[in-house]
Amino acid sequence: MLADKCLTHLPNPACEKHLPQRAVTIIHLAVARMAQLDEWFMREALKEAKKAEGQTSPNPAVGAVLVIDNHIVARGHHRGAGHDHAEIECLRNFSASVPARATLYITLEPCSTVGLTAPCTDAILKAGITKAVVGAVDVNPRHHGRGITRLRDAGIKVREGVLAEDCAHLNEAFNKWIVSRQPFVIAKCGMSLDGRLTRPPGESHWITGPSARHHVHQLRSRVDAILIGAETVRVDNPRLTVRGVHGARQPWRVVLTRSTNLPRRARLFSDRWAGRTLIYKGKSLASVLKDLGKRSVTSVLIEGGGEVLGQALDARLIDKVQIYLGPILTGGPLIAFPGRGAQSTGKATPLREVSYWRIGENVCITAYPKENRR
Ligand SMILES: NC(=O)c1ccc[n+]([C@@H]2O[C@H](COP(=O)([O-])OP(=O)(O)OC[C@H]3O[C@@H](n4cnc5c(N)ncnc54)[C@H](OP(=O)(O)O)[C@@H]3O)[C@@H](O)[C@H]2O)c1
Ligand SMILES: [Zn+2]
Repeated sequence: MLADKCLTHLPNPACEKHLPQRAVTIIHLAVARMAQLDEWFMREALKEAKKAEGQTSPNPAVGAVLVIDNHIVARGHHRGAGHDHAEIECLRNFSASVPARATLYITLEPCSTVGLTAPCTDAILKAGITKAVVGAVDVNPRHHGRGITRLRDAGIKVREGVLAEDCAHLNEAFNKWIVSRQPFVIAKCGMSLDGRLTRPPGESHWITGPSARHHVHQLRSRVDAILIGAETVRVDNPRLTVRGVHGARQPWRVVLTRSTNLPRRARLFSDRWAGRTLIYKGKSLASVLKDLGKRSVTSVLIEGGGEVLGQALDARLIDKVQIYLGPILTGGPLIAFPGRGAQSTGKATPLREVSYWRIGENVCITAYPKENRR
C-alpha cells in the first residue's frame, strides 16, 4: 500500500501518498454519516408514530417520513384501524411527484397484502420510491419479511433494522397479541417503600403523589383495558378512566368477582363509560385474558388489588411491571403481590431491562420478566 511506504508522514488527508487510505477513510466516514442520518430520520419517523400511540389498536403505531437531499419533505402516521397506513399518509402529504433521490423512512415494514386498506408496497412502488429505510420487521408470521422482499424484488434499495429495537418496543403489546392473540399484560401498582398497596382504612388511598398519578393516566391512555379485583371496586370506587391526556381513548374496564357482590352505584357501573365495563364472574385470570384477546384487546393493565396481582405473578401472566414507589412506610397486611409466591429464589421471577426514574418524590420502576422474551 502506498500509505505503508510513507513512514515519515503521519496520516495526512492532504498528502497524495495517502490517497488509498484517505479514500478508505472517506468511504468509512460517508458510510458512518449515512448510518447516522438514517438513525436521525428514523427517530423522526418514530416521533410521527408516537403521535397516535394508544389510538391505533388493534393495529400497530407506525410513522413515516419522506426525505429529499437530507430534508424531511413530508410526514405521516397511522391514525387507527380503517385509516390510511403511515407511508400512504406521508406520500399523500407530499403532493408532488417523488424524485428518484428521495428516501422513505418507515418504522415498520410495509404491508404487502390487502387488509382494510390496499397493500402499502404497491403504493410505494407506484409513487416511484427507489430507496426505503425500514425500522422493525413485521412479527406477524403471515407478513414477516414479505413487504421488504416485495420492495427489493421490484428493484427498491431497502435498508432494514434501523433503530429496530426502538421501533419494535413501540408496539410491544401489538407484537405479542398479533402472534399469540393474548393481550400484553402490564402489572401496575402504587406501592409504599415496604411493599404495601394501601394506607389504613378511612384514609386517602393515595400512596403516590400527583405527578406519578398523571404518569399513570398516560400509561392508561396507551392500553386497551384496565383490570381490577372486586375488592378494589368496593373499597376505592375507582373510575379507571384516562384524565388529562389530550385525545386519549377510554380503555375497557374489567372487574373480576366470584361473589358478584358489586355496588351498583359504583362509578364503573354508573358513569358515562359504564358501557365499557365488563364483569367476569368466577373465571381464572388466564381465561379472562384469553377472552379479552379474542375481543381484540391487545393490552391489559392490571391495577390491583393485591389478590389479582398475586394471581398474575403466580400464573406467570405478567409481561411487564410498572411500579410507582411512594416515599412512605405503611406496614399492615396488604402486600402488593401476595399469592403463593416462589418456592425458592431459583424459581422467583428475575427481571430484565429494568429502568428507574424519578417522578416528583416517587420512583417509577419498569421491567420485564426474563421468561417472557419480547
Ligand atoms: N396501591 C394501589 O395501586 C392499589 C391498586 C388497587 C387496589 N389497591 C387496594 O387494594 C385493596 C384491594 O385489594 P385486595 O387484594 O383486597 O382485593 P382485589 O384484588 O382488589 O380483589 C379481590 C377480589 O377480586 C375477586 N377476584 C379475584 N380474583 C378472581 C378470580 N380469578 N375470579 C373471580 N374473581 C376474582 C374476588 O371478588 P369477590 O370478593 O367479589 O368474589 C376477590 O375477593 C384495596 O384496599 C385497594 O385500595 C391499591
Ligand atoms: Zn400498510
